[in-house]
Amino acid sequence: MQLTAHQLRAFDDQGYLFMPGCFSDEEVAVLRAEAEAILVQERQEVWREKTGAPRTAFAAHTYSEPFRLMAHHPRLVEPLQQLFGEPVYVHQFKINAKAAFEGDVWQWHQDYGTWARDDGMPEPRAMNIAIFLDEVLPINGPLMLIPKSHKHGTLAAGHDKSTTSYPLWTLDQETVTRLAAEATLPGGIGIVAPTGKPGSVLMFHGNLVHASPPNITPYPRKIVYLTLCAVSNHITKFTRPEWIAHRDFAPIVPVEDDALITHARAHRVERAEVVDVHLVAEHRVLELREDPGPGVARARHEHVDRS
Ligand code: SIN
Ligand code: MN
Repeated sequence: MQLTAHQLRAFDDQGYLFMPGCFSDEEVAVLRAEAEAILVQERQEVWREKTGAPRTAFAAHTYSEPFRLMAHHPRLVEPLQQLFGEPVYVHQFKINAKAAFEGDVWQWHQDYGTWARDDGMPEPRAMNIAIFLDEVLPINGPLMLIPKSHKHGTLAAGHDKSTTSYPLWTLDQETVTRLAAEATLPGGIGIVAPTGKPGSVLMFHGNLVHASPPNITPYPRKIVYLTLCAVSNHITKFTRPEWIAHRDFAPIVPVEDDALITHARAHRVERAEVVDVHLVAEHRVLELREDPGPGVARARHEHVDRS
């Protein structure tokens, strides 16, 4: 997928592009189910809020087939190859849960601020692509962006290790106030919070200032963040675990456009088969209950019942 001249100009001017309806309901359904299964796992890649609710699952593209396909998807990879004019690799992969009632704040920050300071990434030639897995509403902790703030380079930041469970290089209130005021001129509308259906995609410049409020609603707000970096701009400092800041700089070879849908359909068939097996087993139990018969049949009934 290639961005149009109009999209390229809008990205350059505003620092982000919002593309509703990029993935179909069928594609998102398999990703959402997979994300829910991953977020409840006890593994080092699943980071929790201070309350214990899941906050972020890192590196799911390395242990989940649907997310591997997503990280190689041409609708995400090709626009960034186009923007950077060269192949890209996966710098980071996150599923941010922003769990119902417990999803905590992400303070105001620039992504490239962290990639430069923590990972020694030479230039802001990397960016986040957000893929909505749930509907993002004005009320469930949407991502807020300050349009045009990417034009200010990398801003001074403090390393906040205490506000949430996850350390972050954050901007002070004075800087955010100034940038938000600038975003209203000329003809701007100030801070924006793109909302939309699952399957919507939001790409934003590595220096675009953004944040998100806590989610105190009963509606989860899962978003996947695929961070792609130009291969020639790979990181040079390895201070964070490999599953947070990847060290495999091999260029991504995109999969076919229908790879996720093919996987979703195959997966659904497998699940249908499992359901059929259960139905057969249940039917068998009922049969045995009705007429257990002597000896062997009763033993089989007991066996089926317990398992
Ligand atoms: C981020 O900025 O890295 C994540 C913010 C969010 O998911 O709300
Ligand atoms: Mn960020």
